[in-house]
Amino acid sequence: MTTGSGSPADAGAVRCADPEATRAAGVTLAAYLRAGDVLVLTGDLGAGKTTLTQGIGAGLGVRGPVTSPTFVIARAHPSERPGGGPALVHVDAYRLGTALEFDDLDLDTDLAAAVVVVEWGEGLAEGLSGDRLHVHLHAHDDGSRSVRLIGVGARWPADAVAAVQAAILDPAAG
Ligand SMILES: Nc1ncnc2c1ncn2[C@@H]1O[C@H](COP(=O)(O)OP(=O)(O)O)[C@@H](O)[C@H]1O
Ligand SMILES: [Mg+2]
Repeated sequence: MTTGSGSPADAGAVRCADPEATRAAGVTLAAYLRAGDVLVLTGDLGAGKTTLTQGIGAGLGVRGPVTSPTFVIARAHPSERPGGGPALVHVDAYRLGTALEFDDLDLDTDLAAAVVVVEWGEGLAEGLSGDRLHVHLHAHDDGSRSVRLIGVGARWPADAVAAVQAAILDPAAG
């Protein structure tokens, strides 16, 4: 299957049984990320957006702690990797009434050298980049969460998204 640039590549959902699994999914996902990437996280309060982001931060090897940035729009976590690496810019767009622009973030960080993760970003963060990985989180009654990856743009064709999903399902196989 091929997917044209701009049309969403939807690889289905992965189930994460507990917070540790959701965090581990973020760690695995981070291995597929590079500077300039934009992730848009969607899901109700408590769905696990921040938990997943904590895993991404751990996987990227950035300075923590990654917490819910509720009282600021964005927080930058610099890389602590010996050789350097992308920073994590963690954005909470919950209180934003208008589309998010990089200038709004008011960060002393080169965003092209960072991975940008936007919680509550759907409908607000699309202008940041034409290439985005959307992550939809959904809480189930048994406490598990489903994590659905949807790629948008040439950076995230269906096979790339499927590879990330397969790795989250089975990190050992990646
Ligand atoms: N399977 C799971 N995955 C992620 N979080 C879970 C899971 N089960 C329970 N939780 C709990 O749900 C809450 C998720 O919170 P958080 O990650 O801050 O969500 P959000 O950022 O989407 O509001 C945490 O208290 C976490 O411990
Ligand atoms: Mg949150």
